[in-house]
Amino acid sequence: MSSKIAVVGSINIDLVYEVDEIVQEGQTISTRDHHLFFGGKGANQAMTAAQLGADVTFIGSVGTDGYGEQALLNLQRNGIDTSSIRKDGLTGQAIIQLSSDAENAILLFAGANHNVTAEQVEASRTVIEESDFLLLQLEIPMPAIEKAIEIAHGSQTKIIVNPAPSHALSDQLLSKVDYLTPNRTELESLSGIPFNEDELHIACQKLIEKGVGCVIVTLGKQGSYYFSGNKYGLLPSNKMIPVDTTGAGDAFSGTLAVALLEGFALEDAIVYASDVAGFVVTQKGAQPEIPEKYRTNQYKFAY
Ligand code: RIB
Repeated sequence: MSSKIAVVGSINIDLVYEVDEIVQEGQTISTRDHHLFFGGKGANQAMTAAQLGADVTFIGSVGTDGYGEQALLNLQRNGIDTSSIRKDGLTGQAIIQLSSDAENAILLFAGANHNVTAEQVEASRTVIEESDFLLLQLEIPMPAIEKAIEIAHGSQTKIIVNPAPSHALSDQLLSKVDYLTPNRTELESLSGIPFNEDELHIACQKLIEKGVGCVIVTLGKQGSYYFSGNKYGLLPSNKMIPVDTTGAGDAFSGTLAVALLEGFALEDAIVYASDVAGFVVTQKGAQPEIPEKYRTNQYKFAY
């Protein structure tokens, strides 16, 4: 496969603490276990796409510390082009509490991710222009995101935005997005309509009216609801026993890009992306090794 994907986004080290229940205000609790994983929404998307066979270039920033070095090596070992990643300050960290029922609470230290500028993105203009897809999330400053969208939009590079963590997006920006992949909360904040399963269509319609090409709402074990102009519907996900839901949305977006590049029909691409995200939740950490059977050329639909 020679599908080119540019990821503009965040790179973190995830410091994961396993707890019985997420700590409450004023409480001190003991943890059951601790892990250090590679993370960051951008890096998670990039790792999924690269593991599925795409040619991925990353535009972002890590620190000049040991974590930054390790994070870069991790991306490079998976074939990701890191020449557009700069080094500055301290590497981003996510302090993650993982509860026994697979829920999480995340405390973010943006570190070097906050140093990604529009100028840096402009300096990598050709990477975005020569890519088939641009993958974005919202853990880096908005001017960098806006610049990436402006470049991609002007060069027919398709744009996927995972609007996480939740952040307001201007109508002008939304009008250039080809695929938007919010979860329940993000859909609610972007559409301004309180989440209601029966009114998913109305909330999606509102975003389509702003010019988004296709809205895909990720609903965890309930699957995904998509609305693409004249087509819409609820698509199922495989039943999995979740262990850690961290990174599932990132894996979804990374897989979606690869599937669309491989020529999958939209509905098939969504089911496939849900399936890969479903695998990720069965593993600890946001960047598990994805088994060969999920490669586009080996993947078998359950239907
Ligand atoms: O989406 C999951 C990611 O969010 C984690 O890997 C963590 O780094 C935070 O950025």
